[in-house]
Amino acid sequence: MKAIKFIFLVYIAFSVLYTLNYFYVVYSNTYGSDNNIKPRNSLGLNFQTSEWGNDKLSWGASDYMTEEFFLSKVFSESMQPSHVIPYYFRAIKTPKEEDITITTLITENRFHVFDRLVTNYQGPISVTIHVSDDEKSRDVLLSKLHELYNGNDYMKQYVDVHLVVDNFERQFNMWRNVAKFFARTNYVMMLDVDFHPCTDFRHSILNNEKIMKKLRTGNTALVVPAFEYADLQEGLDYRTFPTKKSDALELIDSGRLVMFHASWKPGHGPSNYSHWYGSNELYKVTTYQYQYEPYVIFPKQSIWCDERFVGYGANKAACLFELYLSGVDYWVLPNDFLIHQTHEYLEDARRHERRFNKKLYDHFREELCFRYARNFILNGEWKTDKTINLKNTCSKIRGFTQAIKYFSSLK
Ligand SMILES: *[C@@H]1O[C@H](CO)[C@@H](O)[C@H](O)[C@H]1NC(C)=O
Repeated sequence: MKAIKFIFLVYIAFSVLYTLNYFYVVYSNTYGSDNNIKPRNSLGLNFQTSEWGNDKLSWGASDYMTEEFFLSKVFSESMQPSHVIPYYFRAIKTPKEEDITITTLITENRFHVFDRLVTNYQGPISVTIHVSDDEKSRDVLLSKLHELYNGNDYMKQYVDVHLVVDNFERQFNMWRNVAKFFARTNYVMMLDVDFHPCTDFRHSILNNEKIMKKLRTGNTALVVPAFEYADLQEGLDYRTFPTKKSDALELIDSGRLVMFHASWKPGHGPSNYSHWYGSNELYKVTTYQYQYEPYVIFPKQSIWCDERFVGYGANKAACLFELYLSGVDYWVLPNDFLIHQTHEYLEDARRHERRFNKKLYDHFREELCFRYARNFILNGEWKTDKTINLKNTCSKIRGFTQAIKYFSSLK
C-alpha cells in the first residue's frame, strides 16, 4: 500500500514539473526569444533563404520562429546538424496545382543525367542536392551547379533546387522529404534520376479524366513500370530507347528489354509485367508485399519518408510501405514506362548498409502497424476501407490482432 502511495506521489510530482516546464517553454518562446535572429548562412554566400516558393507556407509565426529553427523541426528525425536551403534556385514558371512534380535527388556525378531528365520532362521538378559542409568541395559543387542551371533554359523554367548542407552522405529519405515538402503541385513522382521516362506519362495522366478522378480521391498511387536492357551496353544512350509501348513490346519479346532488377523479383514483380504486356487499362496491384519499390505518382499530402533510413537498402520501400499502410492502393499505368540508364554502382557501401537497413525495416514495419492501427481506431476509421491494406499486412504480426482487440476495448 505504501509503495503504491509513493508511486502515486512521484507521479503527481512529475506531472506538476512537466506542466510547469511546458508553460515555461511556451512563455519563453512567445516573449523571450530574439526576434532578430536571421537564418544563419552557413555557406557564406548570398542566398535568398527567406523567399518561400509557396505562398501558402506562411505560418504566421515568423515573428518569433526563424526559418532555420522551423526547418530543423520539419526534418527533426534526420541527422543533425544539417542545414536545409529551400529554393536555392527557383523555377520561373509557377506550376498549376493539379500537376505532377518529379521529386528526385542528385549528386554531382549525376548532373549530366539530370540535365537530360529536365529537357525530356519539361514539367515541374523539385530536386534535392546534398552539399558536403566543407569549403573546398562545396565551392566546386556550387560552381558546377550554377553552370548546370544556367546552361539549360528548361532548368530555369521548371526546376526548383533545394540544398541540404551537412556532412552526412546518403540520407536518402530525408532528401526525398525535402524535395517533396517543397514541391508546388498536388501530385509528386518519386523518381531515381537514372531512369529515362520513355513516354509522356505526365500528360497521359493529366489528360485522362478517369485516372485524375482516381488520383484526386487521395487513395491512389500510379505505377510507371520500369525496365532495363539485358545487355547493359544498350542502356547507355537514351536516344536509342523506345518511345512507344508497341516498340518496347518488340524488344521485350526478343529478350533485349527486361523488368528492372529482375533478379530481385519482389522489387517490381507485384506490378505483374506479364499482365502489363497485354493490358490497355489501368489495373490494380493485387500482390503487394513490403519489398515492392516501383516508381509512383502519388498525392503530395500523404506520407513522410522515415528519416531513420540512411544509406542503401529499404529506404524507398519503407516510404512505399507506409503509403500502402495508410490506405493507398497501387495502380499500374498500361501505356507508360521507364528505362534505366546504365551506370556504375558503389557496390561495397551498398552491401553493408543493406544489412543494417534490413534490420531497421523489420522493426519499422511492426512499429508502423501499431502506429497506424492506433490512429485509425482513435479517428473512428477502423471500420472503413482505408484499413484494408493494414489489416491484410499487419495481421501476420504475432500478437497484433489481440493487441488491437484489447486497445479497442479500452477506448
Ligand atoms: C498477372 O497477369 C497475368 C496475365 O493477365 C495473369 O494470368 C496472372 O494471374 C496475374 N498474376 C497475378 C498474381 O495476379
